[in-house]
Amino acid sequence: MEVIIRPNAESAVKLTAKLIADSFRAKPDTTIGLATGRTMEALYAELSRMNKEEDLDFSLAKTFNLDEYIGLPAENVNSYRYYMNFHLFNNINIDKRNTHLPNGMAPDDKAEAARYEEEIKHAGGIDIQLLGIGRDGHIGFNEPLSSLGSRTRAKALTPETYAQNSPLFENPEDMPKRAFTMGVGTIMDARRIFMLVTGAEKADVFAKAIEGPVTSMISATALQLHPNVVVVCDEAAAKNLVGREYYDFVFQNEPEWEPYR
Ligand code: F6R
Repeated sequence: MEVIIRPNAESAVKLTAKLIADSFRAKPDTTIGLATGRTMEALYAELSRMNKEEDLDFSLAKTFNLDEYIGLPAENVNSYRYYMNFHLFNNINIDKRNTHLPNGMAPDDKAEAARYEEEIKHAGGIDIQLLGIGRDGHIGFNEPLSSLGSRTRAKALTPETYAQNSPLFENPEDMPKRAFTMGVGTIMDARRIFMLVTGAEKADVFAKAIEGPVTSMISATALQLHPNVVVVCDEAAAKNLVGREYYDFVFQNEPEWEPYR
């Protein structure tokens, strides 16, 4: 795992966008796993800008989102399909037929989860998976005690996630209590993972995720077992990291990071 600490959220976002852009320049038909949430909004704005101003091409991209609320149709402003169209897909030259999310209105949870796993497999797996982290340490909606081998499934959300996300709903009580999410095992199958974490309110859980023992109580700790993870964060999120001096040293001295310094 590489941990890159940037002075502020804006530079963390810019570096993550550059990592993604370089992946697409190397492999224009990259399949990318996408996250939603507040952290990603600035990243999608930057990728949209690069698409317009820097010839970053998404015409051959394929995308798979991590999760979708159960019970929200695509047209609902709080659905993750709506979020993705609004923040990214409407602004870039992607073919929307190549963009995939679980169907929150599917009548059969198990069948929908299996279909989504099959769709990812059929696409040849995920090249790059983008992740944020929830206040309870979730990745996707893999709440505490999610099996570290779990696959896509319906999941009940924790009160903490409810508190984190319900203010985004016009009527907070309209937030669904369940969501489809890729499993931790599904996420771990991605060839490369980029995690973006910003803000002081994530500092505690972030330090546990990166430096604490691997535990299903914090699903993000599973990333310690993945061979190719880059975590980009800002100073505020990094404040409880014990090993930061070494992480900075690696970033400053490894030739791989030269173009990103
Ligand atoms: C949503 C997702 C979640 C978020 C996490 C952080 O698709 O994958 O794991 O990344 O809840 O959300 P924000 O960025 O709103 O703090």
